[in-house]
Amino acid sequence: MIFASAGSAVGLGNIWRFPYETGQHGGAAFILIYLICVLVLGMPIMISEFLIGRRSRANTAGAYKVLAPRSPWRWVGFMGVLAGFLILSYYSVVAGWTLEYILEAGVNGFAGKSAEDFKGAFIAFSQSPARPLVWLVAFLFMTHYVIVKGVKKGIERFSKVMMPMLFMLILVLVFCSLSLPNADKGLEFLLYPDFSKVNSDVFLGAMGQAFFSLSLGMGCLCTYASYFSKDTDLSKTAFSVGIIDTFVAILAGLIIFPAAFSVGISPDAGPSLIFITLPNVFQQAFSGASVLSYVFSLMFYVLLALAALTSTISMHEVVTAFIHEEFHVSRIAAARCVTGGCIVLGILCSLSLGVLQQAQLFHLTFFDFFDFVTAKIMLPLGGMFIALFTGWYLDRKLVKEEVSNGGTLKVLFFRLYIFILRYIAPVAIAVIFINELGLLG
Ligand code: PFF
Repeated sequence: MIFASAGSAVGLGNIWRFPYETGQHGGAAFILIYLICVLVLGMPIMISEFLIGRRSRANTAGAYKVLAPRSPWRWVGFMGVLAGFLILSYYSVVAGWTLEYILEAGVNGFAGKSAEDFKGAFIAFSQSPARPLVWLVAFLFMTHYVIVKGVKKGIERFSKVMMPMLFMLILVLVFCSLSLPNADKGLEFLLYPDFSKVNSDVFLGAMGQAFFSLSLGMGCLCTYASYFSKDTDLSKTAFSVGIIDTFVAILAGLIIFPAAFSVGISPDAGPSLIFITLPNVFQQAFSGASVLSYVFSLMFYVLLALAALTSTISMHEVVTAFIHEEFHVSRIAAARCVTGGCIVLGILCSLSLGVLQQAQLFHLTFFDFFDFVTAKIMLPLGGMFIALFTGWYLDRKLVKEEVSNGGTLKVLFFRLYIFILRYIAPVAIAVIFINELGLLG
């Protein structure tokens, strides 16, 4: 259970999105607020998603129909499905980039290049109209294949080996990155908070990142929990997933920032950050041993693509299960709709980094717009409703029964958990939203 949920949680959100969000929001202070969001909002809401899924044994929209028949709560489920669909579209663009980098690493294309070369190569690649699209479609087909062939179990078994490998490799890279010249500047950026830079954007960014990284607020973990056994300890699973996910994100930061400062790449470079910085780590840290640099870089991108795949599968599954169960179409037809739709939207997002850069929505490219609307609005909003649903709507006895597995587990912080769901989480999320809109002073 922990591995399946962690497979969904650990992905590009940790290794790609977390560092660039941290970089754009000033470093350590952002991380501190992020950690508070994970603990105070993430953990209780994750337990709630688990509980809703296991109690109802249904997909996310179906779950509300079971637990709250004929009520508007089902819209929370619908919003989650839509969020999953939109995230999958742009997430697959970035997942596709990892395939390009596998190829590049495989043909030893990083050898002998400088930081400027990597930057130029990434910009040329991501803005080119055709190449990223090929990888995007390839990645969505891979996800589609796993969903349709029902080989999810196989992938999960596979990821039980691969995830610890990714983790070990990340540890090696942290070590390499910290040994680069000027690495201490990056470390300082990560460890010394500068609260003068904290504004409403930082709060919204940290909250959105917490939801995104933990796969929360869109019913993904709810769908997974519908397969949990009645003995699964929900709080323990939530905390384990939270700890693994946070650890990987922080370690990713410890790789990226020392390296970025070392080679003079601005930490606020945005989505391109890891794709420009990491190849440098491989090049510089193993300068005396090109075989090591070759092997590690290839392994890293393969594992990153795999981590992305376990996440795209989880999003695809949410939408496919929903269409399959709610519209009574076959699973294959449902999966085809999802894959087809994501290809179309994904192409738009990908092109918006290059030829369609001028076509903007609310002053954002399609790619940024999708990211903003989902991670910073839909997921926290979904989380807020999940908190309200569990805290206020569901019978407290039912909640206690689920969290304690029918009274067999001791639940230490039950009252605190309910208090957070009822008051703290909804108010905190609302205040962050209102603050961002500029309505609070
Ligand atoms: N948590 C995943 C990551 O960090 O890469 C992304 C994600 C997966 C978000 C599934 C939402 C979701 F439902």
